[in-house]
Amino acid sequence: MSGRRWLISGTGTGVGKTTLGCALAAALRTRGLRVGVMKPAETGCSEEGGGLVAADAMMLRAAAASSLAPELICPYRYRSPLAPAAAAERDGLPAVNFGRLADSFEQIAAQSDCVLVEGAGGLAVPITWESNYADLALAFRLELILVVANRLGAINAAVLSLDYAASRAVATRGYVINDIEPPRSEASLTNSASLARLCRAPCLGTLGFDAPLPPALVDALLL
Ligand SMILES: Nc1ncnc2c1ncn2[C@@H]1O[C@H](COP(=O)(O)OP(=O)(O)OP(=O)(O)O)[C@@H](O)[C@H]1O
Ligand SMILES: [Mg+2]
Repeated sequence: MSGRRWLISGTGTGVGKTTLGCALAAALRTRGLRVGVMKPAETGCSEEGGGLVAADAMMLRAAAASSLAPELICPYRYRSPLAPAAAAERDGLPAVNFGRLADSFEQIAAQSDCVLVEGAGGLAVPITWESNYADLALAFRLELILVVANRLGAINAAVLSLDYAASRAVATRGYVINDIEPPRSEASLTNSASLARLCRAPCLGTLGFDAPLPPALVDALLL
């Protein structure tokens, strides 16, 4: 399956990538698809029992009902809450090796009908000092789903992210507006219409605050 491989990136950190990824994984599973998930590098991991626990990866794994090993789903874990390239240096651990990531990704893809890969932060975040999440999308032939945190500043962050994806020739499936807070501000009430006027990429839908994933959003993704 080559078409259904998505990178869930976002306008920044804490914008709802894991929340959307888990909701999509569960929804795709109920549509009868075997869902593969991956968090290639997770930073800010907590230490438990002498190891590092990758919380996002474990949430994605549970939502996808995956039985694959956590080390396959998240090959690189770092304690420092930094970009992976910086976290590796700070923690004194090996930097991400793209070949190892590719091996893990292909193993996951081979056993799945679709794959959701969660980035860290946004597209330009360095995985190593030579490669970022745009490079990852290109290497694994992933289509970008951009999570846009619906608050003041969203327009600038979304337009820059989508323009960067286009400049790097990253295929873009679309963006999702995420009501990360109750949409009460003037910005959050008008961002959707503004982005529709400014962006060539389609809006796949809106994830409401504390709301279930709209089925139409899954339909839009699978079109
Ligand atoms: N639609 C939503 N409604 C309510 N809470 C939300 C929503 N989306 C995200 N959140 C909350 O916002 C916080 C950040 O979301 P999440 O962890 O999904 O972001 P992220 O982009 O994956 O972050 P990171 O960059 O750390 O990976 C979480 O506490 C999550 O529960
Ligand atoms: Mg996350």
